[in-house]
Amino acid sequence: MSEPSRPDMLQDGIAAAEGAPADPTARGFAFAGTLDELEARGHLVLRGRHRPVLVIHDRGRVFALDARCPHMGFPLDRGTIEDGILTCHWHHARFDLASGCTFDLWADDVPVCPVEVDARGVWVKPAFEDADPAGRWQRRLDDGMAHDLGLVIAKSIHGLLAAGAPPRDVLRRAALFGVRNRDGWSSGLSILTALGNLLPWLGEEETYLALFHGVRRVARDCDGEAPRRERAPLASAPDLATLKRWLRRWSAVRHRDGAERTLLTAIARGAPAPALADLLLAAETDRPFAGGGHSLDFIDKAFECLDLIGWAHAAEVLPSVVGEMVTARGAQESTAWRQPVDLVRLLDETFAGRPDLFARRGEGPWRGRAALGRALLADDPEAILRSLADAILAGAAPSDLGAALAYAAALRVARFGTANEHSDWETAHHAFTYCNAVHQALKRMGDGFDPEAGYPEPVRAVFHGAIAVYLARYLNVPPAPLPGEEGESMDDLPADAAEIRDALLDAFDRQRQVDAAGRLVARYLVLGHPADALIATLARALLREDAGFHAYQMLEAGVRQYGEWGDAPEGRHVLIGVARYLAAHAPTARAIHQTADIARRLMRGGRLHEEIDAE
Ligand code: FES
Repeated sequence: MSEPSRPDMLQDGIAAAEGAPADPTARGFAFAGTLDELEARGHLVLRGRHRPVLVIHDRGRVFALDARCPHMGFPLDRGTIEDGILTCHWHHARFDLASGCTFDLWADDVPVCPVEVDARGVWVKPAFEDADPAGRWQRRLDDGMAHDLGLVIAKSIHGLLAAGAPPRDVLRRAALFGVRNRDGWSSGLSILTALGNLLPWLGEEETYLALFHGVRRVARDCDGEAPRRERAPLASAPDLATLKRWLRRWSAVRHRDGAERTLLTAIARGAPAPALADLLLAAETDRPFAGGGHSLDFIDKAFECLDLIGWAHAAEVLPSVVGEMVTARGAQESTAWRQPVDLVRLLDETFAGRPDLFARRGEGPWRGRAALGRALLADDPEAILRSLADAILAGAAPSDLGAALAYAAALRVARFGTANEHSDWETAHHAFTYCNAVHQALKRMGDGFDPEAGYPEPVRAVFHGAIAVYLARYLNVPPAPLPGEEGESMDDLPADAAEIRDALLDAFDRQRQVDAAGRLVARYLVLGHPADALIATLARALLREDAGFHAYQMLEAGVRQYGEWGDAPEGRHVLIGVARYLAAHAPTARAIHQTADIARRLMRGGRLHEEIDAE
């Protein structure tokens, strides 16, 4: 049956004819051509109902590979073969012919399939099924993150979701990669967490995009970074009050190792999440508005990350925020907080002058959140701090203060005057995301502070946030009117829910549509259309852009706060602010979306080169 001179040369990807059963077709093989023909031409492409297979003859050996380059799906039959290596014609990725493994990690491995030769010729079984697709894509995701390869990451996420992996598994893998491969928390981890929080509002397509945006940013943040250095908990088990005291001490003197070991000890002794939040926020708020608000926001996001990926990972995730916490500069070092009014001294006097404030807190329920939020926009810092103290005396719980604070900050965004410089949007953003983080952290801790234990230190964050909102008051001079305010008609806008959402996406396609986007959101919500679909549309708008760190934070904080207020004027104001911020930062080049789209089309078997040619 076999040609006498050849079987000993047929190895790797080819079964010698001698041992092969007589009827290859019964085993799923298809006839590709005669060996002489293949030898003469060097390669041939086998087409059929299966994906095209590239069959190659190289120095007496026969190989069968997927005919599409795994990089971007271009045809591999234009490639060059030399010394057992196939080089793709298009971007010159190189592959080991025998295994399909690539030498260029950005291109991914090319799948190979069984091939046999007998006296009739070459037989190929065009089957590329993977026995463990989820395992394969997990490994590729790890490769993609390790080498910061966007297309590989996108394909891996697509492959994992297609293989049935829960999105949270992808989040967990990326989050743990992020805390292990960088010596500290990163903005990418915040983005990953923010988008993870938004998953309940996202459809299949947006879930894929959200994971890609988040994982890609984590990988980028780790690229070239030194991995995390491990610290161990103390061998003793001091009580939480002692650990809290120690953490504040180490933070004050910027002693990172001491602070991390103290925190790890609290985790090791099984401190619950509210107690850990109390520990970290007490130390964090010893410096007001540290790191421009990012430091506290990182702490809150680390907690939220654990909510998503599981608290079993607390000892890996939480210490990642300590480095930033102990090094961040507090606002006491900022001129703006010192002159013309010494706001830090004002804060110190407030805390020192009312150590029993919570002991004298009124009986609930207290229902003044919205009114307090508006009072926090006053032009007098003393009046602002007094409003907070009065609210506590009237019965406001810490979470009430947090909600009112976040609403005040959201109004700064919703009323942002477009006469400001574009960069001023980030001042409004910082205040809002900080205040939202304060609110979320206080909710996590619960409102059951022991009044006998004195003033709860984390509540200082509300006062700090109120001052940050006060300092951003110039952003609302003059204040942009809220849509529909002062009798403004919005009847020029569509009334149908889908039409409004389409118009919103259209607005994000053009620059300078800040007010148009705000009006569309207001119109949609005032008409009573479902907020979930609107949130999904805002997420879609964000995920098609090359969004900056702040845009992800803004959307997620806005959705959180909308959830707090619901379909009330305050909730609408929050989402108006979000839409206005997103519109101010769109459109972009949308390169991230393009990579995600290429990966999706490749994974679905698209013939990318032909589609591009046809466009
Ligand atoms: S290297 Fe083959 S398509 Fe890019």
